[in-house]
Amino acid sequence: METNQPSIIDLLIEAHVHLERQGPGSDDTTRQALSFLGELDGFSNVADLGCGSGPQTLELAQHLTGTVVGLDLFPQFIDVLNERADQLGLKDRVRGMVGSMDNLPFEQESLDLIWSEGAVDNIGLEKGLAHWRRFLKKDGYVAVTCPSWLTNQHPAVIEKFWTDAGSGLDSISHNIAVLQNCGYRLIACFTLPESCWTDEYFAPRETALEKLLETYPGNETVAAFVAENRREVELYATYGRHYGYVFYIGRKA
Ligand SMILES: C[S@@+](CC[C@H](N)C(=O)[O-])C[C@H]1O[C@@H](n2cnc3c(N)ncnc32)[C@H](O)[C@@H]1O
Repeated sequence: METNQPSIIDLLIEAHVHLERQGPGSDDTTRQALSFLGELDGFSNVADLGCGSGPQTLELAQHLTGTVVGLDLFPQFIDVLNERADQLGLKDRVRGMVGSMDNLPFEQESLDLIWSEGAVDNIGLEKGLAHWRRFLKKDGYVAVTCPSWLTNQHPAVIEKFWTDAGSGLDSISHNIAVLQNCGYRLIACFTLPESCWTDEYFAPRETALEKLLETYPGNETVAAFVAENRREVELYATYGRHYGYVFYIGRKA
């Protein structure tokens, strides 16, 4: 009988917890999105939802003077964020907390900015934007990345892959309409470059997948998990021109 059988969630955490980031993105694109927000000095309370181990939480804190709360479902990621904040001398202004982005623990109208990279699709863009709006101060900002169709061709294999993963893809125009219908005005929108997937995420993740295979030799669950992750890379190499992460930046209307 096999002992120490990891679940898919265990493997997801083990493969990602020591990566710089848990999804496509980069410090450059975080800064690019920040550049649309005007005067940053007045931002005293910021939340980064689905922060993972907090690459963008820390990037934000380095460009803002206020407090940044990083919130994620998994305590393992939050522990890493808190350690990194400590190492960077940001412990006073960065706080990681465990929680769910569809049930926020903040006071109404208390946040200047809600940030979320690569995470809102876990609950759905519309549900997230609608729920979060009440926590923003008047004129507060929201900035999210969401996987989106970039062309009018929607290959069935990609449609199925993302639906099976729990988040469908919509067009950029649809997602902008969702943002506006949820009570925000559009400030900016831009597509993350390919390197945010390949160099920033897939390459370091592949090293972590190889380590998983070494740690669990012959384990079928691990082999299937690794194969599915590698399939995502192959699909992106073949069809990545049709879909990608898009930053949507809005302001409470
Ligand atoms: C693709 S990762 C992105 C992490 C990080 N923002 C980054 O860009 O590296 C998605 C993150 O969302 C978190 N997540 C998923 N569902 C969530 C929920 N309902 N509430 C809070 N976090 C959630 C996951 O634990 C994971 O850390």
